[in-house]
Amino acid sequence: MHVFHIVGARPNFMKAAPVMNALKRCEHVIQTLVHTGQHYDANMSDVFFEQLGMAAPDVNLAVGSGTHARQTAEIMTRFEPVLLERKPDLVLVYGDVNSTVATALVSAKLGVRVGHVEAGLRSFDRTMPEEINRLITDQLADLLFTPSEDGDVNLQREGIPAEKIFRVGNVMIDSLVKLLPAAQRQKQSGLPERYALVTLHRPANVDDGEILKRILHSLLDVSRDLCVIFPAHPRTRKRIAEFGLHAGQLRLLDPLPYIEFLGVQSGATVVITDSGGIQEETTYLGIPCLTLRENTERPVTVSMGTNVLVGRDPGKLQLELSRVLAGQAKKGTVPPLWDGHAGERIAAVVAG
Ligand code: UD1
Repeated sequence: MHVFHIVGARPNFMKAAPVMNALKRCEHVIQTLVHTGQHYDANMSDVFFEQLGMAAPDVNLAVGSGTHARQTAEIMTRFEPVLLERKPDLVLVYGDVNSTVATALVSAKLGVRVGHVEAGLRSFDRTMPEEINRLITDQLADLLFTPSEDGDVNLQREGIPAEKIFRVGNVMIDSLVKLLPAAQRQKQSGLPERYALVTLHRPANVDDGEILKRILHSLLDVSRDLCVIFPAHPRTRKRIAEFGLHAGQLRLLDPLPYIEFLGVQSGATVVITDSGGIQEETTYLGIPCLTLRENTERPVTVSMGTNVLVGRDPGKLQLELSRVLAGQAKKGTVPPLWDGHAGERIAAVVAG
């Protein structure tokens, strides 16, 4: 059996690594790793391969950046001949990025089975490009691997037959469980005892000058109480410069490698973010997370975990921050099946 794994953007790498590792143990499975090249900076891509112990991709489509239509179309155009030539039996796609939907669409049209890892998540907000990617990918997939019960419920409501749905847990947490000891062993130099870790990259938060300015102001308010460590996505850094904004005393860093980021995250007093995956990682780690979004496709991080949606309301951010600083942060529990073995459960379904 020949399985393709599709990765393209930073959050895909830590999801594919555990599944590939688990499938290595199945002798009848041949694996091919396809990198679309959606993320191409060394610190957005290469370093993750090294740290996650992944071999270099077998195929790199090197598509780079572009508008959504261009990037998606370019991935489709470059992926189709690879699929036709190598003829896999199954294409595994991860998460909700443009690489996920583009390759799922090509595969489905050519009659190749598609498995979607991290299926069923919904923010119910179609202004988010990722929500469109999730909806389409799940309609096309033959095997849908969900991280939590809400995923199963969403898929069944959308008419996906129950026999295609496999609740396997959170595969990204597999990578975290594996590399957390290394992350905590690595001494982070120059970090204060207490700090807020910030990440910000959603187009809705960074592509509008006024909105980004307001968010930076709230973060500067935060920095009066706590040192703010802010590894900035290239998109965000570019926008800050483009809009002539200033990060003041925020400690703006380049994007961090996986292990370093995990180390900084696991020692944070609070995490302030608009990322999807970080809402889940903080829930696993039991660290308070204040999410700069009005909604989340990962509601279990709110209902069970440490996540609080503060949207773009500076008052709410300050209020929640003061709770954290007063030692009254929301307590959470780890959702079922977020146990470091999701990759093995996926491999068991795939390799049958
Ligand atoms: C993508 C995903 C998003 C995910 C994020 C994680 C989609 C629709 N979005 O968003 O879900 O949370 O990755 O990082 O797929 N850039 C670089 N170097 C890189 C990559 C990007 O400079 O290696 C810059 C480019 O200016 C590019 C911009 O970042 O235009 C945006 O990159 P893109 O991949 O289009 O979307 P992300 O914002 O990274």
